[in-house]
Amino acid sequence: MEFNELVFARRTVRRYNQEPVRQAVIEKILRAGLAAPSPNNSTPWSISVITNGEVIQKMRHAVNERLDLMFANIKPDHKAVLDKVKVFSTVFANAPVVLAIFSRPYHAPIHELLADTDISPDHISELRRHPELQATGAMVQNILLAAAEESLGACWISGALVARRELESILGAKDMYLETLVALGHQESQPHPKEPLDLELYVNYIP
Ligand SMILES: Cc1cc2nc3c(=O)[nH]c(=O)nc-3n(C[C@H](O)[C@H](O)[C@H](O)COP(=O)(O)O)c2cc1C
Repeated sequence: MEFNELVFARRTVRRYNQEPVRQAVIEKILRAGLAAPSPNNSTPWSISVITNGEVIQKMRHAVNERLDLMFANIKPDHKAVLDKVKVFSTVFANAPVVLAIFSRPYHAPIHELLADTDISPDHISELRRHPELQATGAMVQNILLAAAEESLGACWISGALVARRELESILGAKDMYLETLVALGHQESQPHPKEPLDLELYVNYIP
């Protein structure tokens, strides 16, 4: 697909059939993800590929359990919201492939200057709005575009991260932080392309 067509054709898809995704296609998508830019080309990321249904159901259970714990004392009329949050946080549970995107803290050249100051690495990272997180965002967008190019459905799922600790433990994260999940699978039908947003609402030209 031509690029300008592809960016508008990419849509979030939350329903997948159970047809497995071919390994060659998964690898093509992973390579596109790993082609993303990163600060100082530090590639501060890793991707875990989960196709084992039992692990995926364990992850779903962990997310639902965490949400139940967090919101055990909500008012009865908020129950419907909790149910909705659960649905949107566990979209991955029906996908044949789940990608777990991890980052590690980015050690920037500027960090080497900090020993002579009382500035913390966290403060620099906060000022720079967490470069490793931005890099994983670029990676996820590449993954979503590559999936769309393959006519696969995909969904970026940050909702599940309320159970970050539990998910990290299930996935065996080592010195990495789980940043988000991406669900991938064959879609039932091609979603409508996106309408371009109005530039005037979102873009400022600074004189
Ligand atoms: C950072 C981020 C987090 C998201 N988290 C979720 C999520 O937890 N669950 C979900 O169903 N969709 C999630 N989405 C998908 C958005 O809801 C979707 O991108 C948005 O509604 C726009 O639709 P489109 O992707 O078709 O353009 C997320 C998207 C982004 C960019």
